Amino acid sequence: MDRTELYRKVLLSVAGNKLVEKLSLKYGRKLASKFIAGDTLAEALNEIEVLNSKGIMVTLDHLGEGIKALSEASGYKEEYLRLVDGIAERNVLSNVSLKPTQMGLALDPEACYSNIREVVGRAKKHGNFVRIDMEDSPFTQATIDIVLRLHGEGLTNVGTVIQAYLRRTEEDVRKLIDAGVNLRLVKGAYKEPGTVAFQQMSEVIANYQKIIRMHLDRGVYTAIASHDDRIIQWVKEYARANGIGKDAFEFQMLYGLRMNEQERLAKEGYRIRCYMPYGTMWYPYYTRRLAEKPANLWMVLKNMFK
Ligand code: FDA
Repeated sequence: MDRTELYRKVLLSVAGNKLVEKLSLKYGRKLASKFIAGDTLAEALNEIEVLNSKGIMVTLDHLGEGIKALSEASGYKEEYLRLVDGIAERNVLSNVSLKPTQMGLALDPEACYSNIREVVGRAKKHGNFVRIDMEDSPFTQATIDIVLRLHGEGLTNVGTVIQAYLRRTEEDVRKLIDAGVNLRLVKGAYKEPGTVAFQQMSEVIANYQKIIRMHLDRGVYTAIASHDDRIIQWVKEYARANGIGKDAFEFQMLYGLRMNEQERLAKEGYRIRCYMPYGTMWYPYYTRRLAEKPANLWMVLKNMFK
């Protein structure tokens, strides 16, 4: 295991400690604010307008995951319906991202499917698109199954996310491309065992480049979601060398990270979309961000003493 992977695993383990979570929830909201657009939908919609004015598209996420009761899923679904309507009313450039465990996947897969179906159906009426984020590996197949089922019913305005660190990924990409499913491609953010996921970053990057090529070579639109210059430069050069247009793919980055780079990509004529979370359930999302990069943790620690 290389140093980056070791850091990521240690931080995710510490974050999972109940005492650390309790203290963070009590004192950490202000520190998390760099990564979160606000507590409310109204605040998030205002922030989308700011990013749109800089040429940056958005995918809007209402924070929440791993719910304990199905009634919570209904509440989240209602918020997503408001969110989808809000995007349409304000006429901003934003689609939608949601987490399957927020819609009840761990409790009742059929209820989760119905909740997501309602949101995707509402988005379709507005001509919008819903991305189902990918969570940890126990949910991979169930998430893919929901997306394929919705496509089978004619709801093709839904896609999902594929994680380059999973060993199963190449096969999944092949099947999902054939089924016409739009994919966001990422490295993967969860703690996974060696049996299911590559543990060396070099292996993850090689697999990442392979699944990006599987899209670009076939002219299949995809979203490349990474802050990694090695990946971004490689995509730009690969596209240039193979006569692939800037409109054949989009880059995606997270809100609060590399915002200058997001603006630069927009100015260079690339399609760039910012993943913007809002809401009060910020802790798990925030700790994954800290785990991704020691610099994110230093940035937060520095702010503590300002
Ligand atoms: P990584 O953290 O591997 O860093 C590699 C290098 O990139 C660094 O060494 C540095 O050079 C550069 N870099 C990174 N961050 C930087 C910064 N802030 N400033 C300057 N340089 C920086 N995961 C998942 O499992 N399921 C999902 O659904 C999603 N969804 C998702 C959406 C979007 C829009 C993004 C951007 C990411 C996700 N992810 C995700 C997270 C993803 O799997 C991954 O954990 C993170 O993107 C971190 O990997 P990166 O490739 O971004 O850089």
